[in-house]
Amino acid sequence: MFAKRREDFPTLRAENPPAYLDNACMTLRPDKVISAVDDYYRVNPSCGGRSVHRYATRVSRQVTSCRQKTAKLVNAPLTDEIIFTRNATHSLNQVAHGLSWQKGDIVLTSDREHNSNLVPWLQLEKEQGIDHRVVKSNDDNTFDLEAFEAACADAGSRLRLVSLAHVGNLDGVAIPLKEATKIAKDHGALVCSDGAQSAPHMNVDVQDLGIDFMAFSLHKMLGPSGMGGLWGRMDLLKDMRSIQSGGSTVENTTYDSLTWAKPPAKFEGGLANYAGIIGTNAAIEYLSEMDMAEIHEKETSLNKVMSSIIQDVDGVSIIGPRDASLRGGICSVLLDNIDSHDVAILLDEAAGVMVRSGMHCVHSWFNEHQIKNGSVRASVYFYNTEEEVRLFAETLVEAVDVLG
Ligand SMILES: Cc1ncc(COP(=O)(O)O)c(C=O)c1O
Repeated sequence: MFAKRREDFPTLRAENPPAYLDNACMTLRPDKVISAVDDYYRVNPSCGGRSVHRYATRVSRQVTSCRQKTAKLVNAPLTDEIIFTRNATHSLNQVAHGLSWQKGDIVLTSDREHNSNLVPWLQLEKEQGIDHRVVKSNDDNTFDLEAFEAACADAGSRLRLVSLAHVGNLDGVAIPLKEATKIAKDHGALVCSDGAQSAPHMNVDVQDLGIDFMAFSLHKMLGPSGMGGLWGRMDLLKDMRSIQSGGSTVENTTYDSLTWAKPPAKFEGGLANYAGIIGTNAAIEYLSEMDMAEIHEKETSLNKVMSSIIQDVDGVSIIGPRDASLRGGICSVLLDNIDSHDVAILLDEAAGVMVRSGMHCVHSWFNEHQIKNGSVRASVYFYNTEEEVRLFAETLVEAVDVLG
């Protein structure tokens, strides 16, 4: 079933395609998405939501359709709760800089957050005096619910917001977000989740999770570059400050007053990335034809294959729990005394395997663990094959032998 889908991707149809295992950074795009972007520029190269001519009307309809599909994918109660942004980083910044803060308000994150879910809080700490606290994970990087509950209790009435990656890009570990949300809510906090690594790979139901905000990275789910999304509860969005005010964020202005537009328009200032939204419409349509649970299962089965080849080799260790089924589609390998970039270059040049190396924007975790060389991270999507992950793992083991 997934094998047939490889035919939909130009880079995978090419002769001798590389083993593309950098999907946690950005996924490949199927023809459908590329054609939708191309069609936008060739057929309807216009803005939506403003002009009333035919081009604009068609663009507006596609934008609405994309919003509806995205809302359905994550089970958002209202279509207008979906805001299109540049990326997940922009979405998280909208939450951080859109809520209003009192000095001393406490924000909790985990110790394995992407910089996009750390830097905005560090910035607010410096600029507005919030108190950002980090909850340590268990030794195997799984979420420590007890420590989290204790941190919530310790924060007391000052606890304002909890912001957690649903799935970590460092190691693919999913946190028990529903349980953590329940605890946070019992302590009176809002919950924001970074869904950049969960929404592309598993069923995400924002209502069932009970959260208040979720950030998405649409370019990690087959959409065009430069596309992200934010879902937020309408009652919160109504009161939240827009970090990008201007054209289309207002209903009316005078020289000294304004009337804000309703969400999502209030947050989507300026001409949008229409090509990106229209491409995303095709991407979400493509993803919605598949069963997200099957995608997740395929990814963990590929992870088991690569992890089993790597995990007992001397001089290497995989970040996160030994059980690969707890690490989704990510296998992130630490190498004793070998630079991760050297291995990544070798993998590409010698075997055509594309991975990510370095600190994956989670410098804080590497610094805490005093790891200087970063890791070599392979991350799969539904179109990857067992041959590709074997090639990665076997070449990595050979590289360690040669370079170690
Ligand atoms: C967990 C996580 N959060 C946030 C981001 C940032 O995403 P974006 O590039 O869409 O801003 C990434 C990107 O790798 C990520 O993996």
